[in-house]
Amino acid sequence: MKLFLIYCIIFSLSRIVSLQEETGKIKNKVDSKSPTKKQETLPPCQACRMLANSFKKGMERTSRGKFEGGDALWEESRLGTYADSEIRLVEIQEKLCSEEEKAFDQCHHLAEEHEALLEEWWFKSKASYPDIFYFLCIDKLLVCCPENHFGSDCKPCLGGLVNPCNGHGQCKGGGTRKGSGLCRCDLGYTGELCEKCKVGYYNDTSVNGSWQCTKCDVSCKGHCREAGPKGCEVCADGYYYSIELGCVDSNECLVNPCKYGTFCVNTVGSYHCVECDKSCDDCRGDGPDMCEKCAKGYTYQEPLCIETKSWQRSLHVEVARYATYIGLCIATCIILRRNFYIASLIGLLVGVYIGLSEYTVGDWDKRSVIKSVRSLSTL
Ligand SMILES: *[C@@H]1O[C@H](CO)[C@@H](O)[C@H](O)[C@H]1NC(C)=O
Ligand SMILES: *[C@@H]1O[C@H](CO)[C@@H](O)[C@H](O)[C@H]1NC(C)=O
Repeated sequence: MKLFLIYCIIFSLSRIVSLQEETGKIKNKVDSKSPTKKQETLPPCQACRMLANSFKKGMERTSRGKFEGGDALWEESRLGTYADSEIRLVEIQEKLCSEEEKAFDQCHHLAEEHEALLEEWWFKSKASYPDIFYFLCIDKLLVCCPENHFGSDCKPCLGGLVNPCNGHGQCKGGGTRKGSGLCRCDLGYTGELCEKCKVGYYNDTSVNGSWQCTKCDVSCKGHCREAGPKGCEVCADGYYYSIELGCVDSNECLVNPCKYGTFCVNTVGSYHCVECDKSCDDCRGDGPDMCEKCAKGYTYQEPLCIETKSWQRSLHVEVARYATYIGLCIATCIILRRNFYIASLIGLLVGVYIGLSEYTVGDWDKRSVIKSVRSLSTL
């Protein structure tokens, strides 16, 4: 009976595990099968351009024709008809938008909506409009304009047709039926045609044959003539003018602008005040060794301010240590009057003890060795 129960439990457990495994597998399958890419919606001209480009790709893909090998002459005549055939159009349309993962839905929808126009171009207008983009997006759907044209009537951009906005900006709405045709200048440029440098930028002609607006040095305030701190017209706050170096960072800390209990740290173009170490009342810099005056409860012990309490404690320890040494010496002297040999032995041990303890305390130096040797020799 017991055995049977155990068997049942094991069996049901194994069922649960395998069930979980299966559901896990199914889940994974579903996940891997539907890469639901987030679909984005493009503005009309961009969407149309996408469709046109996809169509062009389809034409490239089918440009070598369907048939390969075999009779060359027969193939040529076949390809000749294939090039403009409905079969090829269908083959192009089959894979239309397939490479557009992000906006596939929009592309596909557009292709269905304007299938008739695509057919019209394929069968009738290919010769007069070599570019399907021009036919579809500019002339038929009226969503795009030719390059550097803008607005509902495709007027030329104000920044010019050849090099709009002097190459330092973009025509607003250029290439679409939207926008104002004005220039949107790149960073550092200004003016109707982006022909000027913004305040804080200078005309940099160091690049071959052209010019560009480059940011002024950080040490400049407003305009500058050229690169570096010498090119400034006015120095920025926190900088002073030097004839050889241009605008130089002032060291504000020289006049110590910080209040009592803080010290000054100079930074580029400025400074800041930092709280003194807790052992200082006032200080020249960071740490307990930079105090001008020790704080309350601290005592000056070259070269730091240390806590008076711990200083007293260490003083006590010191006194106790030397008292022990003296006691030992006196004891040795007393024994010396009784027995010279034992006293010398003990004296030697005391000497070693004092030497070792001085060494471990850390104050060990030559003087204490000499002292120990002297104390030995007096025995
Ligand atoms: C910069 O200098 C060049 C050459 O002198 C000049 O053609 C150009 O117009 C200047 N650009 C600006 C923004 O002043
Ligand atoms: C400037 O022109 C020279 C020669 O014409 C060329 O070797 C160099 O690479 C150019 N430099 C830049 C920054 O365009």
